[in-house]
Amino acid sequence: MRVKKHITLCVHLFTLDFLRSTSATVYGNVGELSTTVFDFIVIGGGTAGAVVANRLTERLDFEVLVLEAGPTNDGVLDSMVPAFPVKLFNTAYDWNYTAIIPGMAGVDTRSSNYPRGHILGGCSSHNAMYYTRGSADDYNATVTGDAGWSWEYMLPYMLKNEKWSPPADMHNTSNEFDPSVHGFSGMVFTSLPGFPQPSDDMVLAVSKQLPNDFPFLLDMNSGRPLGLGWYQGTIGNGTRSSSATAYLSETFTARKNLHIVLNTKVTRVHPTSEVDIPRFNTVEISGSSTRLIATKELILSAGAIGTPQILMNSGVGDHQELQSLGIQTVVNLPSVGKNFTDQPYVIISFSVSSNNTLDNLANNATLQAEALAQWELTRTGPYVNGGPNQISWSRLPMDSSILKEFGDPSAGPNTPHIELTPQTGRIFLPNLPNRHFISTGIQIVTPASRGTVSLNMTDPLGDPVINLGFFTAGFDLPAMREGIRLAQKLFSAPIWKGYIIERFSPPENTTTDEGLDAYIRSTTFSSLHAVGTAAMSSEDADYGVVNPDLLVKSTTGLRIVDASVLPFITCGHTQAPVYAIAERASDLIKEDWK
Ligand SMILES: Cc1cc2nc3c(=O)[nH]c(=O)nc-3n(C[C@H](O)[C@H](O)[C@H](O)COP(=O)(O)OP(=O)(O)OC[C@H]3O[C@@H](n4cnc5c(N)ncnc54)[C@H](O)[C@@H]3O)c2cc1C
Ligand SMILES: *[C@@H]1O[C@H](CO)[C@@H](O)[C@H](O)[C@H]1NC(C)=O
Ligand SMILES: *[C@@H]1O[C@H](CO)[C@@H](O)[C@H](O)[C@H]1NC(C)=O
Ligand SMILES: *[C@@H]1O[C@H](CO)[C@@H](O)[C@H](O)[C@H]1NC(C)=O
Ligand SMILES: *[C@@H]1O[C@H](CO)[C@@H](O)[C@H](O)[C@H]1NC(C)=O
Ligand SMILES: *[C@@H]1O[C@H](CO)[C@@H](O)[C@H](O)[C@H]1NC(C)=O
Ligand SMILES: *[C@@H]1O[C@H](CO)[C@@H](O)[C@H](O)[C@H]1NC(C)=O
Ligand SMILES: *[C@@H]1O[C@H](CO)[C@@H](O)[C@H](O)[C@H]1NC(C)=O
Ligand SMILES: *[C@@H]1O[C@H](CO)[C@@H](O)[C@H](O)[C@H]1NC(C)=O
Ligand SMILES: *[C@@H]1O[C@H](CO)[C@@H](O)[C@H](O)[C@H]1NC(C)=O
Repeated sequence: MRVKKHITLCVHLFTLDFLRSTSATVYGNVGELSTTVFDFIVIGGGTAGAVVANRLTERLDFEVLVLEAGPTNDGVLDSMVPAFPVKLFNTAYDWNYTAIIPGMAGVDTRSSNYPRGHILGGCSSHNAMYYTRGSADDYNATVTGDAGWSWEYMLPYMLKNEKWSPPADMHNTSNEFDPSVHGFSGMVFTSLPGFPQPSDDMVLAVSKQLPNDFPFLLDMNSGRPLGLGWYQGTIGNGTRSSSATAYLSETFTARKNLHIVLNTKVTRVHPTSEVDIPRFNTVEISGSSTRLIATKELILSAGAIGTPQILMNSGVGDHQELQSLGIQTVVNLPSVGKNFTDQPYVIISFSVSSNNTLDNLANNATLQAEALAQWELTRTGPYVNGGPNQISWSRLPMDSSILKEFGDPSAGPNTPHIELTPQTGRIFLPNLPNRHFISTGIQIVTPASRGTVSLNMTDPLGDPVINLGFFTAGFDLPAMREGIRLAQKLFSAPIWKGYIIERFSPPENTTTDEGLDAYIRSTTFSSLHAVGTAAMSSEDADYGVVNPDLLVKSTTGLRIVDASVLPFITCGHTQAPVYAIAERASDLIKEDWK
């Protein structure tokens, strides 16, 4: 019988003093474990890892160990203002990666911060909470040959993950979503925006005034996300709902067969012996000689950056690359770390005549203190919104010369290429006191470009080298240019007359393709939606890293469950697909070990 320790730690993360310390039944280091042998070891207690840990421990005869690199999150998750994920960036809860954005004509290669959650819940603990499943086409594109990944089969797993709940302000939500496509008794809270934004009525009016380009969309999670509708977020009762708060709440961490160890960075996984088909069962961790053994399976859930790094350091990757690093190849799988996909993101903004914009909140410390006090007291107010209150999803027109020239990278005709996220204020840009703006994020959600995650030649166990590969394929740059023109069109609807003064960024006189391209190239950053670095492919494919059952090809005992298995990026934000994949994966594992 193992005894769990109660760790209490008061974290002073922000200058805010409302953090409270709580206790959770988790270990601070592997030395506290009373055994080194488990049925399953889950590497990474992030978005997917927490789901797998929860579902496997429903079986009381499975002893499950979760190894998480991040420190204790006691108090942090409960007290984090939903609107402020950036408060966790560059703290002990962030991996602090940097990523390379390749140079292009006239613009040098540059590097950009690339935050990843270093905390239970992983990126779901600090993301922007957008809840978007992608399109039915994304799931139905049968690249793996397994119908189990199709929309119809995956929908129950989406519902199992989801607990739809009222918005923080309890407003009447009729005509803002379609209840028939949601789960009401799952794990992660989802809801509509819980506080009105000054632009709500105007953005919604666009769908009436320009219905051809921006038709009203009742629900973007129905499998056909084309049109303009209400944002849905992973938030309940005005509080962030993450993989950690939902799947690793105290109800579940109290399970006797679930063991969670924090502050534990996995460096490698090893097979038992040199046999034809290596059977992985051993985990090596940083700074300790302790070896941990899984008698049934190792489950890699370290995310699209961590998972390929652990694989390559373990000798699973491209033979030639491994050789050049002096790493002995255990399995030659050249796709590890390749086909990295993420969505490029650009912001444009317009100055406006109104002074009722989110710039006030961004610039006024008194308003911020009021908003914070309101949130602390009642979990309501402006700080419950994670992003825009509406999102618009569009396809390039059928006769678009871009599609003719470069082909269609989307999974099908019900899949958008472009996402617009309009809201007042400057979004992530620096504030300009006494000025007022409306802005929109523009994301190419079906990029054709691919990047890589590779080991640092001089320090393979240090931060991996992340190359975002943005705009290396022909489709993406002209598509982004069209995205800017589409946003321009959205803000040219009659409703904005007298409200919008002029385009501020890029300036009005930036009209040519060349001008827009220069703006795109110098301002693009990442949507932080990394996928594809340990991709799923059909069993007979000559590429890919895992089979449709998520077991690593040419091995036994090693499964991957996280965003790295996505064979291409879904046409939206990636947490909902990751949750659904993890729910199905848990069933696949249970089925194999009945
Ligand atoms: C800042 C940000 C904002 C985002 N916004 C949104 C959004 O609004 N909506 C949306 O849908 N998606 C969003 N995403 C993307 C989404 O959150 C991710 O796609 C998803 O959470 C990834 O889940 P995962 O399980 O694959 O990886 P993660 O959640 O990253 O989990 C990996 C876990 O493994 C741990 N780990 C890694 N390496 C090791 C190691 N060597 N040893 C031990 N543990 C390790 C990590 O600490 C982490 O806990 C955002 C991402 C970021 C970073
Ligand atoms: C990230 O950076 C912060 C600030 O420099 C630091 O305190 C933290 O330890 C870093 N995170 C990791 C995982 O090293
Ligand atoms: C998905 O594919 C299945 C099988 O081909 C098909 O029956 C179904 O109609 C498709 N669903 C959608 C929403 O396209
Ligand atoms: C919510 O709004 C709808 C449509 O406007 C209306 O029919 C319904 O009665 C309202 N519900 C409540 C509880 O007020
Ligand atoms: C949210 O509020 C509802 C109703 O007040 C309650 O039933 C639920 O448990 C709350 N959820 C959380 C996470 O506090
Ligand atoms: C990348 O994915 C494509 C399919 O989308 C595949 O044809 C190609 O072989 C993959 N490349 C690698 C290196 O895995
Ligand atoms: C906003 O504008 C209104 C009317 O134009 C004015 O009365 C008010 O003082 C302004 N508020 C601020 C904060 O500037
Ligand atoms: C900041 O907000 C407070 C509270 O609403 C208001 O009284 C004050 O005038 C604002 N300050 C500025 C500079 O707008
Ligand atoms: C590789 O690691 C070394 C040592 O930490 C560092 O100086 C270098 O910048 C890294 N290289 C890349 C490409 O990140
Ligand atoms: C556009 O206008 C800005 C001033 O708003 C000016 O600095 C810039 O040179 C102009 N660019 C072009 C291409 O005319």
